[in-house]
Amino acid sequence: MAFVVTDNCIKCKYTDCVAVCPADAFYEGPNFMVISPIDCIDCGLCVPECDAAAIFQEEELAPDQEVFIQLNEELAEEWPNITEVKPALPDAEKWNGVPNKLDMLKR
Ligand code: SF4
Ligand code: F3S
Repeated sequence: MAFVVTDNCIKCKYTDCVAVCPADAFYEGPNFMVISPIDCIDCGLCVPECDAAAIFQEEELAPDQEVFIQLNEELAEEWPNITEVKPALPDAEKWNGVPNKLDMLKR
């Protein structure tokens, strides 16, 4: 089991999550972040750090967010590891809370 980054991270990417991860489990894409299920040690520390409330334990995902389990696994293999906080995307505040952003995910 692992924690999973879900829809609301898309176009926000605040990156505060990476600062607390003891396992360096985060991988960064152009407008989304993922957690590697291989690296994640299931500690839950990242959850309250995310201003977009986008991180959930795999078993607690809403049914419409289960697609992100596979996406986190897949994209963690493709994207570079990130361990330091950087500025959020420019329109993060505008996009925080907008539902169904999956079509806007850049790979
Ligand atoms: Fe890292 Fe813990 Fe979050 Fe997994 S649950 S990504 S190990 S902070
Ligand atoms: Fe995304 Fe939240 Fe991290 S918006 S980059 S999961 S702090």
